Amino acid sequence: MSGQLPGDLPQYVSPHQREEALDIHAAQREEATALTGSEIRDRNAHIEGAKDALIVADDLIAGYVPGVNILNGSDLYAYSGELVGIIGPNGAGKSTLLKALFGLVRVGSGRVTLADQDITNVRADQLVTMGIGFVPQSNNVFPSLTIEENLEMGCFQAPKKFAERFAFVTDLFPALGERRAQRAGQLSGGERQMVAMGRALMMDPSVLLLDEPSAGLSPALTDEVFVRVKEINATGVTVIMVEQNARRCLQICDRGYVLDQGRNAYTGTGRALATDPKVIQLYLGTLAKA
Ligand SMILES: Nc1ncnc2c1ncn2[C@@H]1O[C@H](COP(=O)(O)OP(=O)(O)O)[C@@H](O)[C@H]1O
Ligand SMILES: [Mg+2]
Repeated sequence: MSGQLPGDLPQYVSPHQREEALDIHAAQREEATALTGSEIRDRNAHIEGAKDALIVADDLIAGYVPGVNILNGSDLYAYSGELVGIIGPNGAGKSTLLKALFGLVRVGSGRVTLADQDITNVRADQLVTMGIGFVPQSNNVFPSLTIEENLEMGCFQAPKKFAERFAFVTDLFPALGERRAQRAGQLSGGERQMVAMGRALMMDPSVLLLDEPSAGLSPALTDEVFVRVKEINATGVTVIMVEQNARRCLQICDRGYVLDQGRNAYTGTGRALATDPKVIQLYLGTLAKA
């Protein structure tokens, strides 16, 4: 049972089993907090840092069912051009945080802003036109459509952009241009990720949200995806990336957040987090399987 966290549990466990697992998790956490003595969250540092940020999530409380909060006061910001990573145990609420930023999970309290404009609970399709792109973890391509058609779907709200954006995306990912007529369903996992990211780039987003782009990929393909993410970021796109490959994620990101039980646990530069003994002990030991 050691290392088993609530998020690892299938949804059909009995309430009793789940409670037991949550107790074990709470005990592990308490032990961890006693061990480190660290502050779990630093609001002042967040408020200070968020001042000039492009996108900010401030004190978010959100969940899927009324009365059950998955995010329990979560903060995040990213400066224009930054590559920000979010790591944390299974079930910590990482995907929920991205979905809350993208209008897919209702924010009950707190605020999301993009360039100082309040976008809390704005619908996803509107956020796309406002410059936010989102690549979900799974089912992120249309398998029966060709690569080109998938990219077309990426800018169905602005079809006039297609030619210019198709040129941009295939310049970044030449393989997508070369194989434009191939169905996405025939591609490897790594290639599909390129299509999914390419699709999200078709609307020329200022912020790209990526949910575990390396999920299910071999270490070699993971490296390739991370190189691609870096390249996208180098074109000026602000990237917020959730990753299970915590160590590798921290290696490439400018700043990172460790999320635990819907709350910010640690934050810092990728390097600072990757070398922080507390973070290593609590989050990198079991997470860094790669
Ligand atoms: N659609 C959903 N409906 C209800 N609960 C959900 C849903 N999606 C996720 N959850 C729950 O929210 C919690 C956080 O999940 P998630 O954000 O996916 O975590 P992570 O991405 O960090 O693994 C988990 O307890 C999970 O069971
Ligand atoms: Mg997730």
